[in-house]
Amino acid sequence: MTPEQFDTWARQCLVDVEQALSAWVPSEAPAGLGEAMRYGVLDGGKRLRPLLVLAACEALGGQREAALRAAVAVELIHAYSLIHDDMPCMDNDVLRRGKPTVHVQFGEAQAMLAGDAMQALAFEVLTPDEALVPLALQARLVGLLARAAGQAGMAGGQAIDLAATGRPLLEEQLQDMHRRKTGALLQASVLMGAACGTPDARAWQALSDYGAAIGLAFQVVDDILDVTQASETLGKTAGKDLDANKPTYVSVLGLEHARLRADALHAQAQAALRSSGLADTVALAMLADKVVDRDS
Ligand code: IPE
Ligand code: IPE
Ligand code: MG
Ligand code: MG
Ligand code: MG
Repeated sequence: MTPEQFDTWARQCLVDVEQALSAWVPSEAPAGLGEAMRYGVLDGGKRLRPLLVLAACEALGGQREAALRAAVAVELIHAYSLIHDDMPCMDNDVLRRGKPTVHVQFGEAQAMLAGDAMQALAFEVLTPDEALVPLALQARLVGLLARAAGQAGMAGGQAIDLAATGRPLLEEQLQDMHRRKTGALLQASVLMGAACGTPDARAWQALSDYGAAIGLAFQVVDDILDVTQASETLGKTAGKDLDANKPTYVSVLGLEHARLRADALHAQAQAALRSSGLADTVALAMLADKVVDRDS
């Protein structure tokens, strides 16, 4: 792939992911639950995690059916984490992806259940008939996603986030929180895509390093955008971190040093790709650029 071909490739991936999400997230779930699930995950979001899965699979020449399922599964986990993150018991946000949040639209109980059901659905999507995805690969993908979503990853990081609200954190603690709550799922996206192919040990380690670097960079940039962008651009309420007294890279390091940190992580990610021994990492390199150079 050349850099010029990246946009066309990404556009096609996004079409495939939207179609798969729309096909696999049921509208007919009981008592309006399906409507809340679809509202929470369709028509919105940058879909960065699915693109990372598909780009890593592409770099390895891996199995596309498995990768598309992994792409949808990770987006389902991510969208569920956003629904719960926005609830009054967590960040208490009313705007997400340019629309009222799920609990504002459907009520708190339905928002909680939509998140629960989306988490389960992610693992349903990863475990189709074995004619579609070999059982060993299914187990591998389930393991990678579960570990990134649970206490060691996203959920654990969110627990630290809530416990740290209103309290200063050391930079090291902040980094640990960000690696868990956001980095783990982004790194898992890369590794799930890689697992759809047959990476050697060197490529696996390089992609793991790449995923860790962009995963942390992504939340550093999210912290920056919270203070530099308007709500209309973000599609979510700007300035929330300061209002809620959250420790962030901006509050701990200052805006300028937060930017330098994001740039350093971007350089680490690109260096990891160069050390991977893989022939075509253009899509992964372009996605790393997008992680740090974005306005929403
Ligand atoms: C927002 O993630 C929450 C974080 C983990 C920082 P995204 O910025 O990827 O949100 P969407 O998916 O594009 O809405
Ligand atoms: C959320 O971090 C990370 C998740 C695991 C959902 P934030 O609370 O900073 O995400 P936004 O800014 O609301 O999207
Ligand atoms: Mg939060
Ligand atoms: Mg939030
Ligand atoms: Mg944020």
